[in-house]
Amino acid sequence: MGRKLDGSKVASKIQDEILCEVNKLKKQGIMPFLAVILVGNDSASKIYISRKEKLAQKLGIATKTYVYDENISEKELLEKISELNNDEKVHAILVQFPLPKHLNKRIILESINPLKDVDGFHPLNVGYLVENKPNLIPCTPYGIMKIFEEYKINVEGKNCVVIGRSSIVGKPMSLLMLNHNATVTICHSKTKNLSNITKQADIIIVAVGRANFLTAEMINDNVILIDVGMNRLENGLYGDIDASCYGKASYYTPVPGGVGPMTITMLMKQTVEIAKKEVKKCQ
Ligand code: GUN
Repeated sequence: MGRKLDGSKVASKIQDEILCEVNKLKKQGIMPFLAVILVGNDSASKIYISRKEKLAQKLGIATKTYVYDENISEKELLEKISELNNDEKVHAILVQFPLPKHLNKRIILESINPLKDVDGFHPLNVGYLVENKPNLIPCTPYGIMKIFEEYKINVEGKNCVVIGRSSIVGKPMSLLMLNHNATVTICHSKTKNLSNITKQADIIIVAVGRANFLTAEMINDNVILIDVGMNRLENGLYGDIDASCYGKASYYTPVPGGVGPMTITMLMKQTVEIAKKEVKKCQ
């Protein structure tokens, strides 16, 4: 049985550090503030947002969620983002995805001030990541790198297979691993002979959103497994990695208690990092 990478434990340690930083900022008269925009009624989005709100409250970070009807016009949403961009009290802005189809995701993303883009989805921040000069980076990949750091897993020179190519996880994850000198292969729904590729891997990161997608026959002994999946089925919550893989792995992240707690923790960390830049501006 591989060793469990305990994301809840790592997240809790980072939260303690964030709490200290928040207290220091408050003594300097700065209150970190995260603004969240939710459009429509997506039930998963509502759960994520209530978790974010709870954690922000626990860490003393101010947060406000602006909830809009799913028929909101693009113009109205852009006006709200512009108002938040110009509000000095607001450090971080997050627009929750998915957005209703009539809203152009690209236009919305590009309207967020890149300095407040806590998700790291703005093309300027994506470009900084490509250039290995990261500014704000997507929170799930950031959290996974922190797990590697905490468990002293050196990824340099390792064969890393990332399954999934989303802008939220797969692509930024691949770039971060590349920036840390891993040899990276990105796989997706059109990849042929996936098992041949995954069997060569030292590290496999799965972000496809399909319960138990990676199975024991697809992996080699001693692989490190990172599971980004959160698939709610009738009989419970499942990751993208089948539990039959754990016996072959050297390390694995469980679901729940692996990557999930890291994502919202890194969101808070980046909110505080943005707020800290305000201190530097004042000096
Ligand atoms: N929807 C699912 N994951 C995310 C995320 O990390 N950020 C935002 N803004 N929306 C999401």
